[in-house]
Amino acid sequence: MSKNVVVYYSKNGSNKYLAEKTAEVLKCEALPLRPRVSPFLLLLLASATKISLGNRTLKIDLNDYDSIVLCGPVWMGLVIAPLSDFIRKHKDDIKKLNFITCCGSTDEGKNDKFGYATVFTKIKELLGDKCGVCEAFPVELVLPEDQKGDDQRMMNTILSDSNFTGEIKARFDAFIGELS
Ligand SMILES: Cc1cc2nc3c(=O)[nH]c(=O)nc-3n(C[C@H](O)[C@H](O)[C@H](O)COP(=O)(O)O)c2cc1C
Repeated sequence: MSKNVVVYYSKNGSNKYLAEKTAEVLKCEALPLRPRVSPFLLLLLASATKISLGNRTLKIDLNDYDSIVLCGPVWMGLVIAPLSDFIRKHKDDIKKLNFITCCGSTDEGKNDKFGYATVFTKIKELLGDKCGVCEAFPVELVLPEDQKGDDQRMMNTILSDSNFTGEIKARFDAFIGELS
């Protein structure tokens, strides 16, 4: 059986939920990335300028793992600094990395400047053939029909056991199936 670990960054909780859900199903640990510098605006700036702020050292050796699931949000169509710092620091130790995100962009807008597919392309550029499955879990999937397209609702909605049902759960189950 392959040895997995989930590594994640989450500001408001949705990607923490997604990471922990993934770890629960894969029966492995979910480890949070802790940026050395935490003010949000600095993280945003570092993400945009690609300046490395670094994360606190993880307590594991990634060489021990066959597969990593990296999980985190999209900001401004960027690979956010905690995630890009993690990839750059550990690229040589990573055997396979699968990327998942709970993000604001929709499936229709995935190829736009701020869309998740744009970020998948950047992750693949960073990782080359070490990049495995990339999957997105847009917040919109958990909004009722009459609230879809409402950016404020989207920003205020956090994944939880009460809304992680239906379409998003089906997509999650399919993602887990793809891993195995
Ligand atoms: C400053 C900021 C910029 C964002 N930009 C994007 C974006 O470009 N594309 C996107 O899909 N979502 C974007 N989002 C939405 C987040 O990806 C979404 O709210 C995510 O679920 C937050 O994850 P978290 O709860 O784990 O922090 C943005 C959110 C913030 C706060």
